[in-house]
Amino acid sequence: MNGEEIKICCIGAGYVGGPTMAKIAEKCPEIVVTIVDISAARIEQWNSDVLPIYEPGLDDVVKKCRGRNLFFTEEVDKGIREATIIFVAVNTPTKKIGIGAGRAADLTYWELAARRIAAVADTPKIVVEKSTVPIKTAEAISSVLHAAGRTSFSVLSNPEFLAEGTAMDDLEHPDRVLIGGPLTEAGATAIERLSQVYAHWVPQERIIKTNVWSSELSKLVANSFLAQRVSSINAVSAICEASGADVDEVARAVGMDTRIGHKFLKASVGFGGSCFQKDILNLVYLCQSMGLSEVAEYFHWVVKMNDLQKERFVSRIIHGLFNTVTGKRIALLGFAFKKDTGDTRESAAIEVCQRLMQERAEIAIYDPKVEHEQIWYDLSEVTGLEQSQIEKYVKIEGSVQAAAKDAHALVVTTEWDEFKTVDYRKVYQQMSKPAFLFDGRNILDREELHSIGFVTYSIGKPL
Ligand code: NAD
Ligand code: UGA
Repeated sequence: MNGEEIKICCIGAGYVGGPTMAKIAEKCPEIVVTIVDISAARIEQWNSDVLPIYEPGLDDVVKKCRGRNLFFTEEVDKGIREATIIFVAVNTPTKKIGIGAGRAADLTYWELAARRIAAVADTPKIVVEKSTVPIKTAEAISSVLHAAGRTSFSVLSNPEFLAEGTAMDDLEHPDRVLIGGPLTEAGATAIERLSQVYAHWVPQERIIKTNVWSSELSKLVANSFLAQRVSSINAVSAICEASGADVDEVARAVGMDTRIGHKFLKASVGFGGSCFQKDILNLVYLCQSMGLSEVAEYFHWVVKMNDLQKERFVSRIIHGLFNTVTGKRIALLGFAFKKDTGDTRESAAIEVCQRLMQERAEIAIYDPKVEHEQIWYDLSEVTGLEQSQIEKYVKIEGSVQAAAKDAHALVVTTEWDEFKTVDYRKVYQQMSKPAFLFDGRNILDREELHSIGFVTYSIGKPL
């Protein structure tokens, strides 16, 4: 296969498949990149003016490459047949039922994709794991392919490290590209072929080649370490609140040690996103199944600490508002799990909202990017209530001002830049008094808010 023309197919047109393939198409104009998905609606959106995901810089790249060497289609089988390299970037959520429910990764979508490849591919392929998967998944996929007589297929692990909101920049300047493959001659050839794609724009020294298990494990470990830093600083925020220390000052002092570094030390209401919790629980499950119960427990605490942080934040709101929020209007600023994305998966805002609903608060939500339908969907999922029942407690507003009208409190749950430039004097005037502000992201100027008259609570800061 070496020297042969490269044609790429990516199965899964989601937050990973879309941006990663758009970047490859941009950087490798001679390679045809086809993204396939079983969701006709998603493909239709990728082919429209309004892409299914919001990601800064993505629109420009898609518009530049679409129809040139970047294609979105529902024709999964055709895409598979025509490709030489097939990326699989399907979702791998936490299992909801059966063995390992609540911890293990659900590989149903992955296996379906692999079986489809086994069924329709009629020439040898390099199959690339782009999704985050447990260790040994490549081995399982190889078995599926080999059992179907596809013995000359290679399966590589090439986990993705992009973060939402900065995906295009992360793809343009990756810290590293990791490729794991079998320790055979065919494996080495396949790794070389895939690295040729990235070598179009990634310096060679940043393309790391490992065995397949190291690669699969590295992805889970990277996410666990990142989340662990957030949980560590959030644990410190609890100490700060109890002691009078300021978590941002502590993070700055600690982060200036170059061995520790500044990144991922921003205390918050808790981490969200589709992957941190899922991947840690996946690692926990792996450890348990290998009999490493203490190691499992060690990593599990990263998630438990995150749950505790969300609960501490909600308790602070309730206690701050004189121990009752019943019937009080609370403006929830931000519903996405972080700024610069419309993604709400595992967003801390969902849990905060659910808990406030349990206390019978009236909640007015404003988020600059999240679709209203998504908010209703998330709240229905978490509460088990119909939208019409949720609407008794929740309103979705079109601006901070509108959400704040007659509110007893503002609650910042996402660190959107636009929240920093709001005229809080005007906001204060239209709120019930005393007007409270709970900053779950420590993005607002406390001194200024105090001078306006707000009673302000931030994470890990003295009251
Ligand atoms: P997603 O849900 O946004 O997209 C997955 C897509 O795969 C969906 O559009 C779905 O319809 C499609 N799909 C599922 N089964 C299919 C099949 N058999 N054939 C064709 N299409 C199929 O998921 P995502 O956020 O892009 O994540 C994908 C994987 O990448 C996950 O394993 C995740 O852990 C990992 N990951 C995600 C991120 C991120 O920022 N979201 C970053 C790094 C890694
Ligand atoms: C994360 C990783 O950063 C990516 O490398 C990885 O590829 C991706 O998961 C994945 O596997 O899905 P992402 O979840 O998109 O990316 O976003 P992050 O920037 O990591 O933020 C995750 C959560 O942690 C957000 O809720 C964010 O607000 C929170 N966070 C982050 C903090 O509370 N404090 C921080 O200092 C950093």
